[in-house]
Amino acid sequence: MYKVLISDAMSNVADQIFNDKGIEVDVITGLSEQELINIIPEYDGLLVRSATTVTADILAAATKLKAIARAGAGVDNIDCARARENGVVVMNTPGGNTNATAEHAFALIMAALRKIPFADETTHKGEWQKKAIKGVELSKKTLGIVGFGNIGARLSHLVSGFDVNVLVCSKSLESRQAEFPHVTNVSFDELLAQSDIISFHGKAAADGKPLVNKEHLAKMKSSAIIINAARGNMVDESDLNDALNEGLIAGAAIDVFSTEPAKENVLFNNPKAILTPHLGASTAEASIVVAEMAANQVADVLQNNVEIHVVN
Ligand code: MLT
Repeated sequence: MYKVLISDAMSNVADQIFNDKGIEVDVITGLSEQELINIIPEYDGLLVRSATTVTADILAAATKLKAIARAGAGVDNIDCARARENGVVVMNTPGGNTNATAEHAFALIMAALRKIPFADETTHKGEWQKKAIKGVELSKKTLGIVGFGNIGARLSHLVSGFDVNVLVCSKSLESRQAEFPHVTNVSFDELLAQSDIISFHGKAAADGKPLVNKEHLAKMKSSAIIINAARGNMVDESDLNDALNEGLIAGAAIDVFSTEPAKENVLFNNPKAILTPHLGASTAEASIVVAEMAANQVADVLQNNVEIHVVN
């Protein structure tokens, strides 16, 4: 009988799928690297979200392991190259949390433009800050989307009722432009200079180097806001903090951090930064879909030799 480990919290729809398919499943979360190394030799499959880091040492101990599924999109917590060398297929669940993440980015845009967190905090305290809080409308603004994959494309559709001018900087758009008549492809510098809001939805660079630093922030409008619901190291946090303090840009709403869970961060307590704890995919709907996809994909590899959404 095949045996699968679920090492991060996820919808119990995943364990139900394994039970139904006659695959033994253990759900053990919060394991240290050493604890995982000790037990991984028992398992044929592994399901993770982002809390488990699948290191080369864990993979070296995983003598039976055939498949790892990431319930989510990003696989930066898995040593994919090492897994491939060891004959372990790594899969993600593309599309499973696309809408959830695009909607969170949209919520962050509106929260920043209308200063909702400050309004909420001060109203709870009995301060009536009505005169101090003047928002900005999304309507007729220019939204720059960096990374035009599933999530960026979904965001471009979500804002379509707001007469927003959508700019993207995408090498692959040329062949897909017919599908996206509502977006304009421009250079990265044009996107930086023309956008009122810039929202990040790409992958972080493999070398971990931020895509955006002080030099880029200086090219933006002083009224612009940055939204990052992709990966923390896409925008240099220290440069972003300086840019907010020096008035190079007006605000930021950030869901992802260079180190997560973020216990300390240079952006903490900056009043121009709205921060959320990597909630992009955290919806009732998406958590079920990604768990379901991940479990079915691992079961398919083990029982039917079928591999989909392979990333390594
Ligand atoms: C993802 O990569 O799918 C997202 O960042 C969501 C998550 O891991 O929570």
